[in-house]
Amino acid sequence: MEVKTSLLDNMIGVGDMVLIEPLSEDTFIENLRKRFEHNEIYTYIGSVVISMNPYKSLPIYTAEKVEEYRNRNFYELSPHIYALADEAYRSLRDQDKDQCILITGESGAGKTEASKFVMSYVAAVCGKGQEVNKVKEQLLQSNPVLEAFGNAKTVRNDNSSRFGKYMDIEFDFKGDPLGGVISNYLLEKSRVVKQPRGERNFHIFYQLLSGASDDTLKKLKLDRDFSKYNYLSLDSATVNGLDDAACFRTVRNAMQIVGFMEDEVQSVLELVAAVLKLGNLEFKPESRCNGFDESRIKDKNDLKEMCELLGIEQSVLERAFSFRTVEAKMEKVSTTLNVAQAYYARDALAKNLYSRLFSWLVNRINESIKAQTKSRKKVMGVLDIYGFEIFENGDNSFEQFIINYCNEKLQQIFIELTLREEQEEYIREGIEWTNIEYFNNAIICDLIENNKNGILAMLDEECLRPGTVTDETFLDKLNTVCAEHQHFESRQSKNSKFLTDHSLPHNCFRIQHYAGKVLYRVEGFVDKNNDLLYRDLSQAMYKANHSLIKILFPEGNPAKVNLKRPLTAGFQFRASVGTLMKNLLTKNPNYIRCIKPNDKKAAHIFTDSLVCHQVRYLGLMENVRVRRAGYAFRQAYEPCLERYKMLCKQTWPHWKGPAREGVEVLLKNLQVPAEEFAYGRSKIFIRNPRTLFFLEEKRRQCLEDLATLIQKIYRGWKCRTHFLLLKKSQVVVAAWYRRFAQQKKYQNIRSSALVVQSYIRGWKARKLLRELKHKKRCEEAVTTISAYWHGTQVRREYRKFFRANAGKKIYDFTIQRIMQKYFMGLKKTMPSMSPVDKSWPARPYGFLDGMHQELRRIFHLWRCKKYRSQFTEEKKATYEEKLAASELFKDKKALYPSSVGQPFKGDYVEITKNPKYQKLNSLVEDKVLLADVVSKINRANGKGAPRIFLLTKKSLVLADQKTGQVKASVPLLDLSSVSVSTQSDGFFALKLKEGSTSAAKGDFLLSSDRLIEIITKLHRIGAASAERNQINIDISDEFLVQFKQDKVCVKFIPGTPKNGNGVACKRKNNRLLEVSVPSP
Ligand SMILES: Nc1ncnc2c1ncn2[C@@H]1O[C@H](COP(=O)(O)OP(=O)(O)OP(=O)(O)O)[C@@H](O)[C@H]1O
Ligand SMILES: [Mg+2]
Repeated sequence: MEVKTSLLDNMIGVGDMVLIEPLSEDTFIENLRKRFEHNEIYTYIGSVVISMNPYKSLPIYTAEKVEEYRNRNFYELSPHIYALADEAYRSLRDQDKDQCILITGESGAGKTEASKFVMSYVAAVCGKGQEVNKVKEQLLQSNPVLEAFGNAKTVRNDNSSRFGKYMDIEFDFKGDPLGGVISNYLLEKSRVVKQPRGERNFHIFYQLLSGASDDTLKKLKLDRDFSKYNYLSLDSATVNGLDDAACFRTVRNAMQIVGFMEDEVQSVLELVAAVLKLGNLEFKPESRCNGFDESRIKDKNDLKEMCELLGIEQSVLERAFSFRTVEAKMEKVSTTLNVAQAYYARDALAKNLYSRLFSWLVNRINESIKAQTKSRKKVMGVLDIYGFEIFENGDNSFEQFIINYCNEKLQQIFIELTLREEQEEYIREGIEWTNIEYFNNAIICDLIENNKNGILAMLDEECLRPGTVTDETFLDKLNTVCAEHQHFESRQSKNSKFLTDHSLPHNCFRIQHYAGKVLYRVEGFVDKNNDLLYRDLSQAMYKANHSLIKILFPEGNPAKVNLKRPLTAGFQFRASVGTLMKNLLTKNPNYIRCIKPNDKKAAHIFTDSLVCHQVRYLGLMENVRVRRAGYAFRQAYEPCLERYKMLCKQTWPHWKGPAREGVEVLLKNLQVPAEEFAYGRSKIFIRNPRTLFFLEEKRRQCLEDLATLIQKIYRGWKCRTHFLLLKKSQVVVAAWYRRFAQQKKYQNIRSSALVVQSYIRGWKARKLLRELKHKKRCEEAVTTISAYWHGTQVRREYRKFFRANAGKKIYDFTIQRIMQKYFMGLKKTMPSMSPVDKSWPARPYGFLDGMHQELRRIFHLWRCKKYRSQFTEEKKATYEEKLAASELFKDKKALYPSSVGQPFKGDYVEITKNPKYQKLNSLVEDKVLLADVVSKINRANGKGAPRIFLLTKKSLVLADQKTGQVKASVPLLDLSSVSVSTQSDGFFALKLKEGSTSAAKGDFLLSSDRLIEIITKLHRIGAASAERNQINIDISDEFLVQFKQDKVCVKFIPGTPKNGNGVACKRKNNRLLEVSVPSP
């Protein structure tokens, strides 16, 4: 739903000055201040928009704002320039009414900005499309170009427009822009040659020097340094926040968009450069023979460069600065120019060059933005023209006079149009017209523009008059002609009341403008009005070989010499203002009145006196008064009824009849006095703002009551909804709870029933079981009793049959069973087949003891036999030998146990293989049974010497260990016995049979670790041989040995620790050899 709002909503102060109550200058300014402080820079006076310059950017020009104001009624939203633009555009588009937007205000009040906002708004809301967008873009981009050439920094405004501008934007029947036409008014060309303190020349000069590339500057023969040019003021060459270089790029870009050709841009820049060069020309006097001074150019370099730039012959221009040709009635008279005249001529040329260039630019832009169609167009004109200008100290000159004249004219059409509009509306609405008292400034306009005796006419007359014409003569003329005029004041006028007015200097006159009195100094009026450019100069310019210059100075064409004086500036301006006014009168006017809040270009400062001054000369109070003269406020019936219908029961909430009747009922009901309002055809007219505020106040109160009512109903509704929800929830919860409780109860009952049931069933079952058990037991008892009884009967009957041999049978059977079990058990627990395994299962019964041992023995024998049967012959012989050794020495000699583990290898020296013993081996005939190294004990000292001991079947041989040389060879037959000790030593004595051949040398006492093997082998040879007796083996710790003739006793004694661990043999005396053997 669209929200209906009104200007009257959320007002800061009042949005429309018409509603101000009470109306006075103070309340007016206070309202402006209040709104300004809240950034509400726009305020209405009816349909006029007052715009305060905020001097800061406000977020009120966004695309969203455009959308907000688009297609809304003027009073629907808070005041805004967009509302005015929208109103104008819509009535142009929908009602086919041409529009003009008149923007006025003093310098720096924001006129140019306002015109741009209006243009950008219209561009945003009007149609779109490639062609339309191009037109829009060209229209918008004409601004930067014109601003660069026509704007300058002044003390009042950093971007002050130094020309008046009126732009007609043309639309087709749909409201799409087609093109435009720009008119310019009175460029302030004096600025080109001289600028007031703190101000600058036109922007383009600075932009060109800062922004052009080095190359361009070189082409234009310019230097980047501003100080090189006389026409550029230096004290404010740079402006804060203004980037001239960037602006130059923008301007060039804009020129391109608008449609300037590259060579046109170049020509324009050449002209700008030429103006700068012109300013640098200086003159010096040169005496002539006729006694007059003639001016000469001092430094011709600048002139040369300028002429090169413009394609002018240097001598022609040089001459034009020294001579002046006066033509009258076919006569040509050439006079010299003095230095002052030369400077005057130079400046006049510069000013003309620049102002004509500016006009050419405007025409060139117009050519580009011209609508391409010839069909009827709707037009919206935007006028951005200098506002009323009053300088303090009476420093007002010709320009101010012209400007103020223009503003008088504008004020006139403003009053005329406002009143006309007001009157038209009254007629339209059928309301009686009451005459409105207001000040009509037509009389002032007449004072200035009257063809007969108007000030401008006087001035022209004076300028054209032959004879000496000065500003003073002009003032004199005014003093006589205008003396009687009530708005003209001069000290020397015939009106004697000013004779003593010291605020009015003698060289001034004062005009009482509608906006206040302005003192004009006559100095320069004549010159400025004449605006003379010596013909020689225009002719020199025409001769230039430069396309643009030629066009700018058509009067220089010698073929079209016109001896008539050119039109004066005043005349031209009056004519163009006249055209403008005519043009404006055909259009529906929309006013934007710009006000600047302070002189400091600062945000937030509101200077009452300054604003008051502007309010006065903009005639705003007058404006409000005119607007309020009849009826202060008017509104269509529908929105009025919509807004106030809540004030009356009959109209609230809906009125069924026509809106007008509704409003009538409403006002009657509210008892508003009948003289306070009038009913128009479509609108209600309210005479006094008080009535409106009464309605507003009532509405506010009513809205509060309504709000309370709505609040009450809403709260009631909310609480009830909440309550119903709670109730519904409660029912749901209760239902669920009940269900749950019943479920629980049922489950309890069910489980109790099951318990009771199971108990009963259990009890019943147990009872039955008991009965069954009892029955069964009875049956069993019967069976048992009968069995016993039967058994007893049988036993009693058969006892006599089995008692006699049952014992033996049972015994045999038992024994048999026991034996069977014994053997089966033994079979399972048999020990291993190893002969050394001593284990044997325990016997189960004592009576089997004998048999058990016997079985063990048999088993052992059997497994020994089994073991033996695996032996080879060789191994068997070895074991036999080992057995023989055990029989001989076991438990008899302590050395024996150490020999058990040694294999009886026999040949330890490998006699057959060792080449050392080859000879020895060959000497032995039989197979060597044993070959080892033994110690032969020296009989004399008991020390041992190593000998090879060889044993064959027949003999034993002792040989040298090193050489293998046989030391002794003894046939075994000669051997009678062998003596060894009982201890762990290796000593053995080989005793020889007495009388044998070998015995001659005596017995041998030898020692060997392998004694057991040696003796066993020796003994076994004896046992095996038939012819020899078995060799006796004598084991004792003391035995006799035959050493040659002596018998020596060899005694073995236990070793003492002193002797160490080894066996020691010592000859004690002739008869005793003591061998100490360490105890094991
Ligand atoms: N609505 C605005 N919002 C923000 N700044 C503004 C607004 N209007 C004006 N200004 C500021 O004030 C300066 C002066 O405005 P503008 O050039 O429009 O004045 P003017 O009335 O055209 O003056 P002149 O008569 O000298 O040309 C602008 O450069 C801008 O900084
Ligand atoms: Mg401006």
